[in-house]
Amino acid sequence: MTKNLDQREGALTTRPTAADRARALLDPARCRELTTHAAGYLEAAEIEIPATQGFGQQLMRTRFYAGIYQLGRPLGMRVASALQAPGRDADRARTAAALRLQPGQTIFDIACGPGNFTGTYGQVVGPDGLAIGLDASHPMLTRAVADNSGPAVAYLSGDAENLPFRDGVADAVSCLAALYLINEPFRAIEEMARVLKPGGRIVLLTSLAPGGRRDRLHVTAIEKLSTMRMFGRDEITDFLRALGFGEIEQVTAGLAQTITATKS
Ligand SMILES: C[S@@+](CC[C@H](N)C(=O)[O-])C[C@H]1O[C@@H](n2cnc3c(N)ncnc32)[C@H](O)[C@@H]1O
Repeated sequence: MTKNLDQREGALTTRPTAADRARALLDPARCRELTTHAAGYLEAAEIEIPATQGFGQQLMRTRFYAGIYQLGRPLGMRVASALQAPGRDADRARTAAALRLQPGQTIFDIACGPGNFTGTYGQVVGPDGLAIGLDASHPMLTRAVADNSGPAVAYLSGDAENLPFRDGVADAVSCLAALYLINEPFRAIEEMARVLKPGGRIVLLTSLAPGGRRDRLHVTAIEKLSTMRMFGRDEITDFLRALGFGEIEQVTAGLAQTITATKS
């Protein structure tokens, strides 16, 4: 087992690496062993990566898009949110605050892309905490390891719809700018709820159908053209409520919605 050296109060102790601590959270019925890919992220033979079903998903699996994504995201978010999105650093700080992240906690960043939020979470939870970014895209994970690593950060190749973790092991879970790309987004939300501890926080940032209504012809057309799902105003909040979440808050801005909630 690889260890980080930790020198505190003059004593030389060893600390398990973030990858070792990520392994300890696995559900053996879902995933028995993780190996390290040459690019530096974790993977398992039993974890199936979903096939892409549309242009949006295909784009996420390209090296080109993974390479430019972090640069273009703030602009994309400003457009989607009718100019209401904050800048990059304010967005990361605001999300960490909404998750109520504390040093020592465990956070899963589901569909983490190039780790643009996971790296910040790792800094907030500190060396005694753990931030795991999970994504289905090899190029995104490769960028995540290169750009947003840290002593409390691990990246894992996986499917948001079938998380490999045990029940109730995370203090917080985020899924940002990704639910609209996931084939079965409500299955992914159920999985995030499963791995959260009671009292754990969730933050979801996703699309909002124009006018908040999904049952419109032009919304169907937008979905078909973009290959991305547009969510109705109450779809996700109602689903979280049915799963037993409380403290549900929703902020809408243009074609974007951010939902925060606490698992009961
Ligand atoms: C637009 S990026 C979002 C990255 C980051 N969370 C952010 O807010 O900037 C969407 C990510 O969702 C990932 N994704 C889509 N479907 C997924 C699935 N079923 N499981 C895991 N990741 C998935 C894509 O590979 C892509 O990296």
